Amino acid sequence: MTALHLQQLLDKWKIQLKQVNRQMYPDTNKIEKHTAALSQANALLQKEIKNRKQAEEQIQFQASILSRVNDAVIAIDSHNRITYWNKAAERLYEYKAEEVLGRSLEEVNHYRWLEAEDEQTAYTALATRGIWQGENIHRKKNGEEIYVESSVSILTDDNGVSNGFLAVVRDITERKQAEQQCQLLLTQEQVAHAEAKVAKNQIFNILERIADGFLALDCEWRFTYVNQQAAQILHRTQEQLIGKNVWEEFPDAIALSFYREYHRAVAQQVTVEFEEFYPSLNTWFEVHAYPTPEGLSVYFQDITKRKQTEQKISQQADLLNIATDAILVCNLKNQILFWNKGAEHLYGWQATEVLGKNANQLLYKEISPQLEEAVLAVIEHGSWQGELNQILKDSKNIIVQSRWTLVRDRTGHPQSILIVNTDITEKKQLEAQFFRAQRLESLGTLASGIAHDFNNILTPILIVTQLLSHKCLALNEEDRQLLKTVEDSSKRGATLVKQILSFAQGSEGDRVHLQVRHLLKEIEQILKSTFPKSIEININRLMENLWTIWANATQLHQVLLNLCVNARDAMPNGGTLSLSAENVIVNENDARMNLDAKVGSFVAISISDTGCGISPEIQERIFDPFFTTKEKSKGTGLGLSTVLGIVKNHGGFVKVYSQLGKGSQFKVYLPASDTQIKQEAADIKMPRGNGELILIVDDEEHIREATKTALENYNYKILTASDALEAFSIFTQRRDDIKLVLMDIQMPLMDGRNAACILQKINPSVKIIAISGILRNQKLLEASDIGVKVFLSKPYMIQELLHTIKRVLNAS
Ligand SMILES: Nc1ncnc2c1ncn2[C@@H]1O[C@H](COP(=O)(O)OP(=O)(O)OP(=O)(O)O)[C@@H](O)[C@H]1O
Ligand SMILES: [Mg+2]
Repeated sequence: MTALHLQQLLDKWKIQLKQVNRQMYPDTNKIEKHTAALSQANALLQKEIKNRKQAEEQIQFQASILSRVNDAVIAIDSHNRITYWNKAAERLYEYKAEEVLGRSLEEVNHYRWLEAEDEQTAYTALATRGIWQGENIHRKKNGEEIYVESSVSILTDDNGVSNGFLAVVRDITERKQAEQQCQLLLTQEQVAHAEAKVAKNQIFNILERIADGFLALDCEWRFTYVNQQAAQILHRTQEQLIGKNVWEEFPDAIALSFYREYHRAVAQQVTVEFEEFYPSLNTWFEVHAYPTPEGLSVYFQDITKRKQTEQKISQQADLLNIATDAILVCNLKNQILFWNKGAEHLYGWQATEVLGKNANQLLYKEISPQLEEAVLAVIEHGSWQGELNQILKDSKNIIVQSRWTLVRDRTGHPQSILIVNTDITEKKQLEAQFFRAQRLESLGTLASGIAHDFNNILTPILIVTQLLSHKCLALNEEDRQLLKTVEDSSKRGATLVKQILSFAQGSEGDRVHLQVRHLLKEIEQILKSTFPKSIEININRLMENLWTIWANATQLHQVLLNLCVNARDAMPNGGTLSLSAENVIVNENDARMNLDAKVGSFVAISISDTGCGISPEIQERIFDPFFTTKEKSKGTGLGLSTVLGIVKNHGGFVKVYSQLGKGSQFKVYLPASDTQIKQEAADIKMPRGNGELILIVDDEEHIREATKTALENYNYKILTASDALEAFSIFTQRRDDIKLVLMDIQMPLMDGRNAACILQKINPSVKIIAISGILRNQKLLEASDIGVKVFLSKPYMIQELLHTIKRVLNAS
């Protein structure tokens, strides 16, 4: 009951009392008496009110304190209903006071005991002492469990009768978790400690038994521990070493890696590893040294035997590396185990790149039947030999002569395959050329035989027709014409036979010292008067100092005319026919590249057209007698075979370069005659390079590689690219090193003109020599404004190339 209530009650009483007085005590005396008694009572009441007010303030003060404490304070009445729930309780359980007040404790607060017996302990404590303190687990509104420390006391009324509980609860979850963590660490540490103790004993036991040496040195470089094996390797006893200074005991080690590396390990606190030979013990050591708080632990092995084996292997490998053949060893899963220098050289792969790789994937485009046969044969018979098509690192195709031998282990089980490969690509190409030459020769023999018989047949026909026309004077005009046809046809037949014979036998004829210049002039006359005007004839006038040749003028006429007529036929819609001549020295490298060429000095006459060109498939066959692509009435197919016959007879050779749709060039090489000139030629020095780096761009692998080899022989450094894109990538990387670019003008992906343009953008001062099969064609002329210094026509001879390169490099 509050003070206000009391006051109201009191006032009510006063009014009621007055009414009672009026009714009960009408006389005034009595009233006064009662009034005195009442004021006494009133004073008592006022005192009571003051006391109560004080008590109430006290309660409010206490309540405000309780609401501020950090521990949750909860009061429960005798019916187990929550009667008090302070702010800390709200925070702890996340229930607001208004949510829980009046509800039973079980509804709100779920709890668990830490240990099963804790519950009994708590009840006993409350029953006997009226208070329990302990830890248990409570659940929050959101279901989360927390560790709490509670203090629960029984509340009693003035008579000491229990009327509820007061609980003060504190969240100790964090502390509990920390304790648990701590406990865990403690246990782990104990375990680790125990284990370390065991391990230490074990380590020493092991160290004594291992086959490797182990020793420990202190900070003064004294031996503090040496295992039995170490002592044995060092040729001492353990007792002899313990306590001794390592450098005093092994003074030779000071000059060796031991001293340097041990000091490095200690100074830099790093592990060091090294191999070293210790001469006075005649032993190779493999050493691992680790810094320790006490000094240094050294673990070492005697690797003398291994070193000796390695040396032996390396000596053998050196021998294998001297071999120019590619030598490789593969296991039965095709993994490469050995790869000599020859293989590096041939395939372009370094040993480090290929060891462990699959040889089939590396060296073959596809698994060919020969390869399968090789594998089967080597497993079955122990060896195999044959030819294989392989690919190089740069994807180039090669043919190798391959010899396989099965290597077995000691027990006779197949272990690996030893393969020796010889590159026979060039040999194969020469072989093909040789077969062609042979085919031509046999065809020639055959043709000359037929021609001979044919001549015998034609001769009587010719004689008879001539005789008849004289004898039968009475013949009418029509019959006379018929006879004339027979005679003309026979004459044509006879000319043809003569041609066959000159191709097949190459009739000697009269030879004279001949100036090619004169020859070309005469031909020019004929061409200009007989060829259609749509064909522009272009004779290169810059032919001073041409060497003379020893030749039959008529036959050479025939050669040039045949070639010019072919050129004309290739340009039915007109074009340019160019003739030129130059002195050329053919060296061994040139001769090696093609079977027909011979070493010496030559005058080369070139006949180029801008006609239809010759497809690669038929280029092989154009020199075959009777090979023609022309209509029956237009060509016999003997033109080129005659040309070849005559030129060979003169000790020369013919080269062709042609591109379909663009044109063809025939180059006739005739040996220079004059001995003086030959001397002069021999004196002409092949200009050598000074190691300048040259980039060769050509899509034809054969030409690219041959040019590379030739230029390398003359002291140039060479990079090659097979198309414009590759050329750009190389050129961008080596822009400043590349002194010159040799560029084929006709390439499939991007033509050389555009390529030259781009190169010039990358480096405006780039020097480019453009190479083309078609002499000075329109395109080349167009190219003149894009940094192309000089044009060179294919097929070029090395001398010509070297001179041109020198000229371009020297030009500033
Ligand atoms: N300049 C050229 N351009 C294109 N194709 C050529 C050229 N020269 C030769 N050929 C090809 O080579 C073939 C053989 O030439 P060859 O001179 O031996 O015989 P032909 O010209 O066909 O006949 P013939 O010369 O006996 O009248 C030709 O049919 C032609 O297909
Ligand atoms: Mg012809």
